[in-house]
Amino acid sequence: MKIRLDKYLADAGFGTRNEVKALVKSGVITINGTLCKDSSQKVDTDTDEICVRGESAGYAEYEYYMLHKPAGLITASRDKKEKTVLDLIKSKKRRDLFPVGRLDRDTEGLLLITNDGELSHRLLAPGKHIDKCYAVIVTGKIPEDIEILFENGIDIGDDKLTKPAKLRYFPELEDFLKINNDPIFQDKYNELTGSDDPSVKGEKYSVFEITITEGRYHEIKRMFEAVGCKVIYLKRYSMGSLKLDPGLSPGDYRELNENEIKALLEK
Ligand code: URA
Repeated sequence: MKIRLDKYLADAGFGTRNEVKALVKSGVITINGTLCKDSSQKVDTDTDEICVRGESAGYAEYEYYMLHKPAGLITASRDKKEKTVLDLIKSKKRRDLFPVGRLDRDTEGLLLITNDGELSHRLLAPGKHIDKCYAVIVTGKIPEDIEILFENGIDIGDDKLTKPAKLRYFPELEDFLKINNDPIFQDKYNELTGSDDPSVKGEKYSVFEITITEGRYHEIKRMFEAVGCKVIYLKRYSMGSLKLDPGLSPGDYRELNENEIKALLEK
């Protein structure tokens, strides 16, 4: 693909269009080893080597990252005061990456980060009904018919009931670990159940898997709250065909492989 040098550099994260124009003028850019001071120069993103102060400035039209979001970070591209999930993506080439959908500050798990707006729209559009699967630890008395309530839709105070959600109850943690052997989830559960903190000691914790197709604000927390329960821990494991890589620790990320990208784009 042929694009202007200033667009190339701006996309690659070297500043705004005006900033990179100044950079080019300052004489630190080479194209295939030849100095270039002309921002309007066309470069081929596939074959030309652009260097900034001697360092190669790689180009990617699209980038796709899977992040294991840790608790404590906000899901935003940038923030004036706080560190965001984008700050964890150290190897990013582009400056226009954004998280697809939002996880609450205290929610952990799978987060897709890309600059592919079309894909993001397809994954998030309400009409597309893309499954998002989470595991959750809740406290409170569980209604007998909770699976049916969630299947029928819950009144969480919005105009409409929530779309049908699939709920699967695991009477024992071991039952959950059989289908999802996640040591981090296990540690979290053990930490909660073994806590000496008087405010939570003796509390009964229940484990569910929940699959929703929407992405309303605090949706899962509000659904459980509406039936008298409280979400203590929430972790997302999948979004459509994309599954959280068990090899990623919280805070780690990796690029999606070709099959993962293809599967998401095919949906
Ligand atoms: N539902 C919630 O309540 N929080 C999340 O982070 C995601 C879904």
